[in-house]
Amino acid sequence: MKHFLDLNKVDAPVLRDLIDDARAVKDARAGQPKGAPDAEQPLKDRMVALIFEKPSTRTRTSFDLGVRQMGGQTMVLTGAEMQLGHGESIADTARVLSRYVDLIMIRTFAEETLLELAEHASVPVINGLTDRTHPCQIMADVLTFEEHKGPIAGKRVVWTGDGNNVCASFLHAAGQFGFDLTFSGPEVLDPEAEAMDFASSKGADVRIERDPVKAVEGADLVVADTWLSMHDDASARDRRHNLLKPYQVNEALMAAAGEQALFMHCLPAHRGEEVTDAVMDGPQSVIFDEAENRVHAQKAILKWCLS
Ligand code: CP
Ligand code: NVA
Repeated sequence: MKHFLDLNKVDAPVLRDLIDDARAVKDARAGQPKGAPDAEQPLKDRMVALIFEKPSTRTRTSFDLGVRQMGGQTMVLTGAEMQLGHGESIADTARVLSRYVDLIMIRTFAEETLLELAEHASVPVINGLTDRTHPCQIMADVLTFEEHKGPIAGKRVVWTGDGNNVCASFLHAAGQFGFDLTFSGPEVLDPEAEAMDFASSKGADVRIERDPVKAVEGADLVVADTWLSMHDDASARDRRHNLLKPYQVNEALMAAAGEQALFMHCLPAHRGEEVTDAVMDGPQSVIFDEAENRVHAQKAILKWCLS
């Protein structure tokens, strides 16, 4: 079964091929209206369930669009409206859905939910974000980086702020695609050791630099994410904002990075908090390319899962 659960669970050459395929898939339909079908229809007659236990704009629409362009159909489901949200087990949900659909994409809270779903499903499962990781996002980010700057291998990415789920997937990607990653944020929000160890074990140079100005100097890519994720306790907002304020990505920080540096944010962004308008809308920002590339990267992933 070809599940796409995390970037450290799929072989590096497969991930490389997926990025190259995503680029080919994107080039092949350049200039077409968004609703037009792809010339090839690898998901013809396939049914895909998209389950959301948390809000989503990009993941929901990009998966839905990608499946349709490849000839498949989708069912977009909200966890709270399913029996899953009312006590039915994940295992039974997996067994039942496997009788109706050819693939399940899920956005959920605990990673265990994703893993249990994959264990009991007889169809491929894709991780559309958990509290711990967000692999589809980083596939889009690698595609975006390479479109702008060429191969990401050997480059240096600086993650600013909270060492969260998106950061963990960036660390997995550092190991799999061969780039270096510097984390710059407060110690209490350091990325999980397992993701850092994975990247280091694959030869990536993983560093922690508490001074954001020093961290970004000469970076190829500066990345920010929200200071309070969907799984975080909202009552911690003020304390976290105080902790994270020194890590805001603003014009001064991008100037310290240098003009070679790109800026990325998976979105949704909180303008004026983790990043300023000037950076979001500035010449180094590739945030909307990232958002678009979710479609192309996920189409390559969907094809691979169902091949
Ligand atoms: N970046 C991302 O996953 O966005 P959504 O939460 O809108 O899906
Ligand atoms: N870290 C954020 C990413 C949203 C796409 C969250 O989990 O809320």
